[in-house]
Amino acid sequence: MTPVLKATGLGMTYAGQFVALRDLSIEIQARERIAVIGRSGAGKSTFLRLCNRLLTPTEGRLQLDAQDITHAQGRELRMVRRRVGMVFQQFNLVSRLTVLDNVLIGTLGNRRGLALLPSLWRQFSAEDRAWALHCLREVEIEHLAMKRATELSGGQQQRVAIARLLAQRADVILADEPIASLDPRSAEQVMNILSMINETHGVAVITNLHQVDVATSFAHRIVGLREGVMVMDTTADKLDDTLLEHLYGDQLSEAQVETKPHTEAIHDESHGRMNHAAVPQAVL
Ligand SMILES: Nc1ncnc2c1ncn2[C@@H]1O[C@H](COP(=O)(O)OP(=O)(O)O)[C@@H](O)[C@H]1O
Ligand SMILES: [Mg+2]
Repeated sequence: MTPVLKATGLGMTYAGQFVALRDLSIEIQARERIAVIGRSGAGKSTFLRLCNRLLTPTEGRLQLDAQDITHAQGRELRMVRRRVGMVFQQFNLVSRLTVLDNVLIGTLGNRRGLALLPSLWRQFSAEDRAWALHCLREVEIEHLAMKRATELSGGQQQRVAIARLLAQRADVILADEPIASLDPRSAEQVMNILSMINETHGVAVITNLHQVDVATSFAHRIVGLREGVMVMDTTADKLDDTLLEHLYGDQLSEAQVETKPHTEAIHDESHGRMNHAAVPQAVL
C-alpha cells in the first residue's frame, strides 16, 4: 500500500550549521498510530515540523501519498497543511474567537484569507456550522461552542485544536507534546480522543511524547530519535530497558516516571512575529 507519508534520507540543518535531523527514512501508513520518543533536543519537533512542511528539509525527500512535497509552495503547500494537521503543546487557538469559530476556521480549506477577518460566523454556510458542531461533539465539548477559547481549561482547548483538524478533514494529525501542559486527567482524555479519532476516522496520528508509559499505551509503533538520528523503529511490546537506555542514557528515569508538566523551550521560526501557528496553516 502506498504510505500516506514517506521520508527518504530526510535531514534538517538549521542556519547552515546545526544538524538537528539526519538521514531519516520512514514510511507511515494511513491509520497508523506512532509515538516519537527521545531526549530533549533529539529532533522530535523538527521531524514533526518537516512532516507538514512548517519546515523545509535541507536534505532528502518527503512524499504525501505518492506526491513529492519536499519543496511544495503556495496552493500545494496549503493542501499539505490541510491534510497533515498539527496540534501543539500550547494549543494555538485564536484567543479572541469563540470555540466554534476556531473550529470553523478548519473548514476554510483553501479559501484563503478569510480567517483573519473579525467576525467569522456570518461567512459560513449552515452546512459548515453543522459540520463544525459535529466535530466539537466528536471531542465531547459541543456545549462550549459559544465560549471564547481563553475561557476553556487547557484540556478543553486541546480538544478544540483536535476538533479543528477534524473539521479540516486532515488525514494525518501531528501532535507535538500534546499533553505536556496538562494535568494527568486532562492528559488522559486528550490521548483517549486521539485514539478514538485514529480508530473511528482512520486518521494517522504521529505524536511526540515525553513519557514512555504514555507512548507505549497510546501507540502501536514507537520511533526513537537520538541526536537527530532514528535509532529505533519498533512496536510498543518490543520496547525494553536495553533499548530505552540506549535512547535516553542517564535521562531514562526522568522519562519513565510521572513527571511534572514538561516545559521545554519552543523553537519557533515565527517567534517575535505574528503567531502563524495559531491559524490553521491551510489558510495562510
Ligand atoms: N529554529 C532553530 N534554530 C536553530 N536550532 C534549532 C531550531 N529549532 C531546534 N533547534 C535545535 O535542534 C535540536 C533539535 O530540536 P527539537 O527538534 O526541538 O528537539 P526535541 O523536540 O526532540 O526536543 C535542538 O538542539 C535544538 O536546539
Ligand atoms: Mg520538541
